[in-house]
Amino acid sequence: MRVDDFLAEVDKAFDGDPRTSAPLDPTFERIAATVNGYTSANELAVLNAAARVMPADECYLEVGSYKGRSMCAAVQGVTDKTFYVVENYLEFGMQGQEARAELEDNLRTHAAHADVRLIEGNCFSLLRRPGLVDRPVGVYFYDGEHTGLSHYLALGIIEPWLADEAIILVDDATYPMVSGAHEDFISRHPQWRVERRWDAETKGDPRWANGLHALSFRRDAATARGSDEPWDVRWRRLAYLSSLGPGQKAAWKAIHRFPELIPLAKKLYPSKKASSID
Ligand SMILES: C[S@@+](CC[C@H](N)C(=O)[O-])C[C@H]1O[C@@H](n2cnc3c(N)ncnc32)[C@H](O)[C@@H]1O
Repeated sequence: MRVDDFLAEVDKAFDGDPRTSAPLDPTFERIAATVNGYTSANELAVLNAAARVMPADECYLEVGSYKGRSMCAAVQGVTDKTFYVVENYLEFGMQGQEARAELEDNLRTHAAHADVRLIEGNCFSLLRRPGLVDRPVGVYFYDGEHTGLSHYLALGIIEPWLADEAIILVDDATYPMVSGAHEDFISRHPQWRVERRWDAETKGDPRWANGLHALSFRRDAATARGSDEPWDVRWRRLAYLSSLGPGQKAAWKAIHRFPELIPLAKKLYPSKKASSID
């Protein structure tokens, strides 16, 4: 995936500077108004621009679909490409089967023309599984859980799967813990850089929700395919799998059983509820 093609396609999708203008195509406003979710029309237009210019021998991989808003938008006008969704149905009190049914229903309505493949489970376990996707990832959209550790790991764990040149879109990037995590990661991994920052000016900004950053990756000899997992990624992955991941799972289950814990959870964990149409 050529990073320059993506940047040019984003410019074409907006009526002026994307930071201060709306997408030209009204489809994204319509999807934001009809599919429950947390991504804004501007963010949806950027995801779609990435999908449009991605070569067909690469794939688009999203972590965190919720009810499918972002994926429904990404595939608009794109018929010949492969899209993967990784979702563990953990957050927001979603019950597995019920949540999946709603996601599938939205994909049937808005994405029936596209090849969208659902993979159920925790991305940090799944992305260590050989053969999970059938081609290099040209576009990666991370919209999963938001802790500094998860965001750092979200970049480290995808690197082996990426195409030699790839675009990585990180949602909620205006949160300091999110941008801090990718800046920290990039300082140790010079193959990565931040290409664009579309930041939220207010909490729940109508244009950019909680902000979206576009990162790029360009493979070099140090990141050749088959390289060992770097130590900074390895220890975080092991820490996540042994404590943070199971702890969060237990916390979400407890919140579902005891809704009186919600105010406490909101203090401990940044909420995106403001931008949902629920
Ligand atoms: C903010 S929502 C995604 C919103 C969606 N992209 C949209 O456009 O509305 C985050 C989703 O990520 C999922 N999630 C969180 N952590 C995850 C993980 N480690 N692996 C897979 N899915 C995860 C949650 O279950 C939740 O549905």
